Amino acid sequence: MKIAIGNDHAAFDMKVEIRDWLAGKGYEVLDVGTYDKASCDYPVYGKKLADKVASGEADVGIGICGTGIGISLACNKVHGIRAAVCSEACSARLAKQHNNANIICLGARIIGIETAKMIVEEWLNADFQGGRHAERVQMIMDLENK
Ligand code: RB5
Repeated sequence: MKIAIGNDHAAFDMKVEIRDWLAGKGYEVLDVGTYDKASCDYPVYGKKLADKVASGEADVGIGICGTGIGISLACNKVHGIRAAVCSEACSARLAKQHNNANIICLGARIIGIETAKMIVEEWLNADFQGGRHAERVQMIMDLENK
């Protein structure tokens, strides 16, 4: 599985830890930046990340900024993206099972690294349940064409 990861300056340290941890588990990780702690704009990296997922170049994505909120809002403007901000593992699992979230977003100033890893692991290991959830997810995607 290929995972894209993108972040702003506030999340550089967490991005590096998550990226290297995932690579160590055998995932192919595509780091779209930012690559240092110089102040930057999270919408830029949200778009870079979302484009990788929407195009199919990456299967799923992880977005990290200070709160996870800004980068998720940016990602969700790209057609085909369902980005969910999560601060605990239960929501992350349900974001995949019910919402088929293809990007998970984390707040580096909100949660610690171990919680972040638990969230990512729970989300990656969960499966979309389909059925009634598929119809609802389709209703979300249909909003893009209205
Ligand atoms: C950057 O200071 C901060 O605003 C950003 O990382 C994020 O929290 C925005 O939602």
